[in-house]
Amino acid sequence: MPSVDSITAELQSLDRQYQIHPFTNHSDMHGTGTHIVQRGDGCYFIDETGTPILDGLAGLWCVNVGYNCREIVEAVTAQMTQLPYYPSFFNSTTEAPIRVAEFLAKHAPARLNHTIFSNSGSEANETALKVIRGYWKLKGQSQRRKILCRTYAYHGVTLATTSLTGLVNCQEPFDLPLEGFVRIPGPYHYGARSELTPEDYGRWCLEETRRIILAEGPETIAALFAEPIQGAGGVIIPPKGYLSGLREICREFGILYVSDEVITAFGRIGAWYASEMWELDPDIICVAKGITSGYLPLGGTMVSDEIAEPLLKGGYFAHGFTYSGHPSCCAAALANLRYIEDHGLVTKVKDDLGPYFEAKLANLAAHPAVSEVRGMGLIGAAELVPKGGRDALTPTSLLGAKASNLVRAEGAMVRGIRDLIAISPPLVISREQIDSLFASVERGLDKLWD
Ligand SMILES: Cc1ncc(COP(=O)(O)O)c(C=O)c1O
Repeated sequence: MPSVDSITAELQSLDRQYQIHPFTNHSDMHGTGTHIVQRGDGCYFIDETGTPILDGLAGLWCVNVGYNCREIVEAVTAQMTQLPYYPSFFNSTTEAPIRVAEFLAKHAPARLNHTIFSNSGSEANETALKVIRGYWKLKGQSQRRKILCRTYAYHGVTLATTSLTGLVNCQEPFDLPLEGFVRIPGPYHYGARSELTPEDYGRWCLEETRRIILAEGPETIAALFAEPIQGAGGVIIPPKGYLSGLREICREFGILYVSDEVITAFGRIGAWYASEMWELDPDIICVAKGITSGYLPLGGTMVSDEIAEPLLKGGYFAHGFTYSGHPSCCAAALANLRYIEDHGLVTKVKDDLGPYFEAKLANLAAHPAVSEVRGMGLIGAAELVPKGGRDALTPTSLLGAKASNLVRAEGAMVRGIRDLIAISPPLVISREQIDSLFASVERGLDKLWD
């Protein structure tokens, strides 16, 4: 038997030869060697060195029930044994997607009673974009084609969802965005270095949004996409009054409001859907990630009765994927959602773990390398600065990646984004593990200026 080390070396070599990774600088990665993660256990994953690492990112903002949820594994095994796959084409479907669609509707804001399944967050948003076009066409308003989307938004990687995304580094290498995606400001007060208070900056964003809508022609705008909390763009928490103001503007101009809840749904901020917290009453909610806790891929586009009605009566609905409503993925989703419900995880985040996490995050603000913290429920971020302070930052400082490596060496995983770290642990994390997570973060940041 070869030793673990030589197996790791072989895998790293094969990886270098054969695999292209998502969102990765391959020369950097292969310079140090790809991490080959071996196992998961609760809130920990175990890497190629056998070291348990406390996963402060829940995989990729998704492993909400932790890595060893027996209920999901058993449900998927039972489904795979009985019927691994059958499509929802041909006037057919299977039990699992029906039950998941029912669960989603029963926990969602009132009007969202219909789900179109897909395989990812990108596909959920892509599906929303197509449904919106189809909807306005059926309503005789095909001129409503433009889509409003925000700076620092992240909505996926297809051509259209990269165009929705408001991160230049995602668009520039592919000569995107496509035409018809109209950028409005996201409420990133810190990033804007605004002299205004966060609330006043939020108001400025709304005024600017209104100005852009009027300049574009409100009758040409189909929908607005917004994550309640902007995740991959840097955990941007909306200032007070901003989201309700945005919703109100959409209502005023008859623009559909899409809430991208790929990160925020299913308990992350202490509600089944973040849209409830701000009473957004969206026309569409997009979900993925936490719907299965990442055990299997699944996306969902939940549409209001008003949108569903013309689509359901509009003849042949010519959209869908081979794996729309995949029974094994939906079995994972159902077991995961029931687990979240049965263990009261949403309430636990709202009343206990969320406030505890927020308090620990607030303490982190005292660290000399931290210039701002923000968070809500079990999602948070810390903006980092070099020794010379914020003014010494340069476009190549990339303190986030440096910090996340240092924190990993201290036994916890967080995500580096620009000059910040993002934290988003599993919802099953304990208070002691939150302590340990922040202790690792502090120890890592202690070395940031070395
Ligand atoms: C808010 C949001 N929307 C969409 C996506 C895209 O999801 P996926 O990577 O499953 O395509 C992500 C992924 O991080 C996301 O955070």
